Amino acid sequence: MTITITSTDAALGARVTGIDLSQELAPETVEELRAIIHEHLVVVFPDQDFSPEEQLRFAEYLGPVARRKLPEDYDIPDSSREVPGIVYVSNIRTDDGKVDGVIPDGEMWFHHDTCYKPEPDRFTMLYGVTVPNNGGHTMWANMVRAWETLPDDLKAALKGRKALNVYDYATIERPDLSDLDKVEHAWQPAVVTHPVTGRDALFVNRLMSCQLDGLDDAEGLKILNAVFDHAEQRQFIYEHAWSVGDFVIWDNLACTHARTHFDLGDDRRLRRSKVGGAALID
Ligand SMILES: [Fe+2]
Repeated sequence: MTITITSTDAALGARVTGIDLSQELAPETVEELRAIIHEHLVVVFPDQDFSPEEQLRFAEYLGPVARRKLPEDYDIPDSSREVPGIVYVSNIRTDDGKVDGVIPDGEMWFHHDTCYKPEPDRFTMLYGVTVPNNGGHTMWANMVRAWETLPDDLKAALKGRKALNVYDYATIERPDLSDLDKVEHAWQPAVVTHPVTGRDALFVNRLMSCQLDGLDDAEGLKILNAVFDHAEQRQFIYEHAWSVGDFVIWDNLACTHARTHFDLGDDRRLRRSKVGGAALID
């Protein structure tokens, strides 16, 4: 088995072939894959064929996976209760018209997964089960490159500052901040030093970052919006059109991701798993 790595022509991302992720992996293979992910930030493994349990076994090679059973009153479709640790991102409706997945429809702005929690996810993984005919692409933006190229005045405004990250599951755009008790939120460093590579990366995003500490709302948002406009330039982005069997993993501390528009009736179902992370603030 020879692993072949092909870089995309974008600012991040690689395709890796010659490995079957449904199989048990030797420790040296896991370390090789970990290094590839840290170098390229997003890695696509095409033509994978594995069960939810096999997907979770792979995730656990890279770190802790929350396999907790969700509380009964937690509002999530039944399909995402079958194997704790696996959640379906899906717009497919069941016969009674209920959607059979989370964040089902439409465009989604750039974000870091769970940066609104004290311990943001370390890696996220998606597996293409059903893919749309048009759109519904995932885009990733290289936040190391975006930080390196940020104008000096914006760098100075962010360095050492914390950002308030908020997420309301009811919206795919920035939430209402009038009652923070009703939505999950956390203060995180606006610039994170990566725990493995040691590289600094922007850790704010348009979907979830709303305020900067020490600045009033309008001033903070003006700076943040300028940072988002910089960080979402095409030169930092890899855009992926999904094929069935694609398995994609990314470094959630080093890049943001977003989703392009697709039609409501165009079925899209991705199987998600995650590796948890540590607190970024003491
Ligand atoms: Fe996400």
